[in-house]
Amino acid sequence: MNATPLADLSADDLATLLDEQRAAYEELKTRGLKLDLTRGKPSAQQLDLADDLLRLPTSTRDSKGVDVRNYGGLEGLADLREMFAELLWVDPEQVVAGGSSSLTMMRDCLFYLTLFGAVDSERPWGQEEKVRFVCPVPGYDRHFTLLESLGIEMVTVPMHEDGPDVDAVTALVADDPSIKGMWIVPTYANPSGSIVSQDVAARLAAMPTAAPDFKIFWDNAYALHHLTEDEAKSADILTLASAAGHPHRPIMFASTSKITFAGAGVAFLAASTDNVAWYLGHLGNGSIGPDKVNHLRHVEFFGDAQGVRDHMARHREIIAPKFAEVDRVLTERLGGRGVATWNTPTGGYFVNLDVVPGTASRVVELAKAVGVALTPAGSSFPYRQDPEDTNIRLAPTMPPVEEVTAAMDAVATCVLLAAAEKAAGA
Ligand SMILES: Cc1ncc(COP(=O)(O)O)c(C=O)c1O
Repeated sequence: MNATPLADLSADDLATLLDEQRAAYEELKTRGLKLDLTRGKPSAQQLDLADDLLRLPTSTRDSKGVDVRNYGGLEGLADLREMFAELLWVDPEQVVAGGSSSLTMMRDCLFYLTLFGAVDSERPWGQEEKVRFVCPVPGYDRHFTLLESLGIEMVTVPMHEDGPDVDAVTALVADDPSIKGMWIVPTYANPSGSIVSQDVAARLAAMPTAAPDFKIFWDNAYALHHLTEDEAKSADILTLASAAGHPHRPIMFASTSKITFAGAGVAFLAASTDNVAWYLGHLGNGSIGPDKVNHLRHVEFFGDAQGVRDHMARHREIIAPKFAEVDRVLTERLGGRGVATWNTPTGGYFVNLDVVPGTASRVVELAKAVGVALTPAGSSFPYRQDPEDTNIRLAPTMPPVEEVTAAMDAVATCVLLAAAEKAAGA
């Protein structure tokens, strides 16, 4: 903790430190580690919390008498939409309950926008000369690969603690009609842990955009995933946008992937009623209805919105100690060294570690060689290019806590070694 910053070490002391870290690294090699901090997945213990789903539903009808075994109800089961409308602070008629993946809903929206345009488009996006998206960085890798697959260009802006750099965003969108949208993970962002403030949300909702059909993809994947009792409430983007005269600008996404089962949860889309009709209109060409049995199973399992909140508190008990452990080891091993900064997220699934610029790839490579898998450097940036080679995403939820400790200890050695190598020009 009282360690000297690397930059203040004499040449001799730096050489000593480098030797020490090389020795520590050699020792790591002998441990035969096989650890993985790449997966932003729930642990088996978390999945066990929802095992009663496997014995549900007990009924074939919902409270409105709908037979969930049959076709129909493209917008999803009303009881479940009502429950999640309350949790996402929107009206039930603004919510669609779909399949198991919100990422698929995002992809479908982008396809529909490309092929058909939005409710407020002059033409399909695919007929524009160029389409660009604003991407706060670091961000979620799959958002970026999805845009890349569609040939949508990405323009980055920095992500701050209170959300994307809103001055940069407003300047970009004001004059450039090819900028058609932006990603935001508003609550406990992947990977920065940032929470979009009310003020930033209001400015994004109201900002003038050269594109008349500008869309905010408000991916609230971690809306309910609190790591402390101080639960952040996401800004109410639909109301803010509507009040600012841009009701069709935001499309919100969420899912129970990290609430119940990642492979068998329910995904949600929420937007203006016109946007909902637009989405369902296109969806209806390829589906007669979602898995309403799964919807009813979730309704029976939770009972009500408070049931979801209570369930998330049980997740918190399992994963908060893992995040605390990441912070403890990093603080003990790297505190005061001036070789890394990291966040202590209050929710979500990730810790964002920034190492000495130019060393992130080296740290990941060093860790891999001693059996610790880290997300490839650059993953949290469009085209996998971190211009500073500084960012590493840590995902501590899946391994047991002892493995988190061992992995973080190894990561700390790799961070110090890479920093010492760089400082010594080794
Ligand atoms: C920001 C973000 N959005 C979406 C997803 C995936 O959501 P789903 O499982 O609903 O497709 C993830 C998963 O890691 C995520 O981090």
